[in-house]
Amino acid sequence: MALIILNNAEAAQAFAEGWSADLVGGEIFALHGVLGAGKTQLVKGLARGLGYQGDVTSPTFTIVHEYSGGRLPIYHLDLYRIADEKAALTLGIEEYLPSEGVTVIEWPERILGLLPPQTRHWELEVASLTERIIRKK
Ligand SMILES: Nc1ncnc2c1ncn2[C@@H]1O[C@H](COP(=O)(O)OP(=O)(O)OP(=O)(O)O)[C@@H](O)[C@H]1O
Ligand SMILES: [Mg+2]
Repeated sequence: MALIILNNAEAAQAFAEGWSADLVGGEIFALHGVLGAGKTQLVKGLARGLGYQGDVTSPTFTIVHEYSGGRLPIYHLDLYRIADEKAALTLGIEEYLPSEGVTVIEWPERILGLLPPQTRHWELEVASLTERIIRKK
């Protein structure tokens, strides 16, 4: 698969929902892309696919959001405000690399050196107001 065009936010969610069926726990998704690219939309879809019924929002002020109650827990990390790997380690981030559930990371660039090799990297590119291009990185 080279790239997939996501025509709107719902398409982005549906695409990520498709990831959920095969997950067994321990997976790590690194979501690359600029502010507003749609990273959180992907997390919403993944959470929906795992049967989580609550709200999914970017954990801007808390670093980690946990969504439990679905088939597997999701740990949603937003590292936008993390300066570097040292700061991330101080916050105990390695607990999620991997976790017993599914770890999804926004702004993984901040901790590239800490991400284990099994990490699945996805890149979102903004093509227009409503179009995104997603590809494996
Ligand atoms: N094709 C699309 N895919 C995903 N989001 C889209 C798409 N088209 C429009 N959008 C809109 O773009 C915005 C994406 O916001 P989102 O919070 O998911 O971005 P983000 O990458 O998580 O940004 P941040 O780094 O600020 O957390 C939403 O308002 C969404 O409705
Ligand atoms: Mg976000």
